[in-house]
Amino acid sequence: MTLLLNKTPNRTMAKVLGLCTLLLILTVSLLSWLWARTMDHYSVPTPLDVPPHPLGDVAPFPGDKFDNLFWFIQISDVHISRFRDPQRTTDFKQFCNENIGVIKPTLVLVTGDLTDAKTKDNLGSRQYEVEWQTYRNTLDHAHVTEKTIWIDVRGNHDAFGVPGADHQFNYYRKYSVRGSGGDGTFRYQHKLPFGTYSFVSVYAILNPGPKRPFNFFGILDESNLQKLEDFTKDEKLSNHTVFFGHYPTSTIIAPHTRLSNALQNGVTYLCGHLHSFGGMVPHMNAVQKNGVVELELEDWKENRMYRVMAFDHDLLSFVDVKFGTWPVILITNPKRARFLSLRHEPLRKMVHSTHIRFLVHSPDTIASTTVKIDGVVLGSAVHVRGPLFVIPWDPSEYPAGLHSIKVTAMDAAGRIHSEGYQFSLDGSRPPQWLMPSFFLLTDIPFIFWILYICAVVVFVLALLSLRWMALKNGHYRSGLLRSLIGLASNQTYFYWLLIIGLYPLIGPWFVCAVSGESFGIYTFYGFFLREDFIGETFSYVICVLNMILFQGPITLYFALQLDRIQHSASNHTTRNHTTNSTPTRNGKSSSIQNGSTSRMTSQRQVQSLGLFWSAVAYTCLFSALNWMTWECINLYYCYGAVALLLAPKSTWTLAVVLVLLYRLHWVEMRQVKANGFTS
Ligand SMILES: *[C@@H]1O[C@H](CO)[C@@H](O)[C@H](O)[C@H]1NC(C)=O
Repeated sequence: MTLLLNKTPNRTMAKVLGLCTLLLILTVSLLSWLWARTMDHYSVPTPLDVPPHPLGDVAPFPGDKFDNLFWFIQISDVHISRFRDPQRTTDFKQFCNENIGVIKPTLVLVTGDLTDAKTKDNLGSRQYEVEWQTYRNTLDHAHVTEKTIWIDVRGNHDAFGVPGADHQFNYYRKYSVRGSGGDGTFRYQHKLPFGTYSFVSVYAILNPGPKRPFNFFGILDESNLQKLEDFTKDEKLSNHTVFFGHYPTSTIIAPHTRLSNALQNGVTYLCGHLHSFGGMVPHMNAVQKNGVVELELEDWKENRMYRVMAFDHDLLSFVDVKFGTWPVILITNPKRARFLSLRHEPLRKMVHSTHIRFLVHSPDTIASTTVKIDGVVLGSAVHVRGPLFVIPWDPSEYPAGLHSIKVTAMDAAGRIHSEGYQFSLDGSRPPQWLMPSFFLLTDIPFIFWILYICAVVVFVLALLSLRWMALKNGHYRSGLLRSLIGLASNQTYFYWLLIIGLYPLIGPWFVCAVSGESFGIYTFYGFFLREDFIGETFSYVICVLNMILFQGPITLYFALQLDRIQHSASNHTTRNHTTNSTPTRNGKSSSIQNGSTSRMTSQRQVQSLGLFWSAVAYTCLFSALNWMTWECINLYYCYGAVALLLAPKSTWTLAVVLVLLYRLHWVEMRQVKANGFTS
């Protein structure tokens, strides 16, 4: 800094530089502070100031007996489809026969998207009775309801195009095991000699159910939220409450404080819906700020995953298993440090335990097991009964910090599998997984809303200030800025781009049959039906993409092209150019206008943009047209021809853009060629 100040002869220059440096430092510090705060928010497990569980130091403790133990299964996003991947159904049949038969879970939770309900083109959506029949037949053939308690709930796919819960298209009521009893928030209480365990559904399905894609976020309405709150009031009567539903809390539109207060009465919330986000986030599990362990399960649809969970002496454990993996190993004591529930689990029971306990399931008998702690072999475990294996240990050897445990099992058929993780006996927890935590601890609709509103404000302010600059003083030499100001000073393009930019926020998007019968209007805020309003806001996501892929690019395209046409028109009568320099788009080339040897003739000819700016312009044009066309195609396949015709947000916008393009490239261009200037 001082060096710069001393050396720069021009004092104002030095001041400007100094100010810039200061601003830069401030910005960088602010950004790093924000970044650090964000990272902390997502990765540091919340220190919960709660008293230790009253039963932590009270017997019974985990030992070598088959007691205080039961296990269950979760499976999600089955997506039985009449068009795609028949193996999915075949595997599901085998799962119902073999896996349920071998593991013998007390109950099975199926957290939604039982059927795919997508049309053959994979864009549209509707309920197909045959998919539901396949689902039910599979369960019946495997006699699952005789082997276990099967609790299936709806997902958004099971609600695509369902006009109402009572409507005949709600095949869930006819073909699911729960039937109409599962169509809403409900509680199933499982009573065992050693305790009572409540399973409470979180029902955020849209009713009526719009077709895709505007049926992605769930809505927990007042009546279902009220029921949920009522069920959690007497949670003291249960040893544990397990919440389950289709949507992760980050994709539920609801009064979030109330939802969070209700859910914190349970040990965990089990959900699906986001699958593994295209394989990018395979273990979408995190501990919420209120202490709830939220466990999203990868889908059956593509990944064939399911989850085995157990309560052992009221400590909750789980393992996510890929279909076909045997032996299935679930360590129940000590439990995984990452998912400690400080509020609900009697964690001190681990400290008083005499044995390490784990469950091993396999179609064949288990030939051998090995247990390692911190890499040291403890020995092989003893089979107690059923799937339970135990091995004695001394917890006082691991008083503080994180330790690793690994269990390996081999069955009589020679199949070997290992499971392992970190545990702690003093409540230590590792940092949260960043991506899963990001997906589960963020209010996703809200984030998209913020992004979009910011983008619109920036866009409108930018256009307005450019217009103001244009009106004040039209002469800017710098390329891009001049292009943008030129655009803003042109009434036609300025007003149309402003209208197109603001329209999604204020006007109806399209008119359609929302769910088969009832006609409605879709807006930024949701569906307006004759009697109902569905506040589903996938529109926020569309709007953000729209801003990035359409609005920004098309504005830039018009600016660059208009400037090229207008400027070369006025240029040619006044100045000469070097033939191979790009016109003054980047501000640099204007300085190259020295007395070059090759000069243009005074012929009225429109220059080209130059290689770089052509690439930019045509990429923008491609992106914008591509996005809008894609939107129209989607609209047609999802909501039909009427929606496509009556769609100001998509079809009409595309038409306006095409007219503007015609005007720019044909009308203005012809005028330039004829007169050497534009009107
Ligand atoms: C379940 O709760 C009851 C009452 O609080 C308690 O006596 C019992 O030990 C608990 N069960 C287990 C397995 O801890």
